Amino acid sequence: MKPKVLLGKVGLWSATAVASAAVMLCIAPTTARALNVPTEVTELGKNTYKKYCSPCHGEEGKGDGPLARSMLPKPRDFTRGAYKFRTTPSGSLPTDEDIFRTISYGVPNSTMIPWDILTEEQRLSVIPVLKSFSEAFEVRKPDAPVDVGLEVRPTERTIAEGKKIYEEKLECWKCHGVEGRGDGPSAGEQEDDFGFPIKPFDFTTGKFKGGNSSRDVYLRFTTGLNGTPMPSFAKELSDEQRWYLTHYVMSLVKPEDKEKK
Ligand code: HEC
Ligand code: HEC
Repeated sequence: MKPKVLLGKVGLWSATAVASAAVMLCIAPTTARALNVPTEVTELGKNTYKKYCSPCHGEEGKGDGPLARSMLPKPRDFTRGAYKFRTTPSGSLPTDEDIFRTISYGVPNSTMIPWDILTEEQRLSVIPVLKSFSEAFEVRKPDAPVDVGLEVRPTERTIAEGKKIYEEKLECWKCHGVEGRGDGPSAGEQEDDFGFPIKPFDFTTGKFKGGNSSRDVYLRFTTGLNGTPMPSFAKELSDEQRWYLTHYVMSLVKPEDKEKK
């Protein structure tokens, strides 16, 4: 059976205190349905890609379109099949739903806008086009999405437990910084697999590239971001500990900093 992925509204950070953040954490995406992705590249897909995507991602999906030159982060090079934002384990290809989600919501803090200005049919039609750029999709299938399970109730205790994991057990601070500002001691030296400099995410901004829900944050450190130095921490933690860490990471969001920007 094809696992369905929950597609829901990305919760916006309106929280001003941990308490209200905790309320936000409980809002789970509610709509689930199979996507009607064409099995082959269609004319609509080709035309949509050429007009809206190739200026950055390039005619052959190499991330080298005319607009890409001075851009950082670079538009994704689709030829390696390395996708950052997935529900699937580290090293796996993404599911169609993962790709659709990124196209629809965009990638905050980059020039990748949410393409909800296109119709759903157009957004679905480009998925086979992106996949056709990489041989990986011919020889492999995406692994099954990781089981996110039921979120534990966020409390001061879960946040405190998460802090211990962040600071002592897994030392996330080495890259992301003690306060989560993306300024840890190893922050300056990170590169992605294409040799471009990459910064550990600044949690205080609250604009998570892969989505702001607790499920999104849980998935990011569980699956890792393929093609980047952000590793997968899939084996080190129990399911409950994963939620603790999620709650702590989300508590690092500082709405007052966001207002200054
Ligand atoms: C103005 C430039 C620009 C345009 C136009 C653009 N993108 Fe992007 N796209 C980017 C950048 C930059 C990134 C990388 C963001 C990052 O990793 O932080 C990206 C990333 C992506 C990813 C991320 C995949 C992953 O999980 O790693 C997908 C999928 C994608 N783009 C699809 C599209 C599609 C489909 C279109 C056309 C409808 C499109 N993009 C148009 C700039 C662009
Ligand atoms: C070796 C350095 C390194 C370590 C250690 C590290 N990260 Fe990251 N992390 C990164 C980088 C680099 C990115 C940004 C990738 C990007 O922008 O594409 C990132 C991104 C993330 C994101 C995605 C945010 C978004 O935009 O959606 C989350 C969540 C995250 N890290 C959590 C953690 C947690 C939790 C730990 C500890 C268990 C951790 N990281 C350890 C380097 C690291």
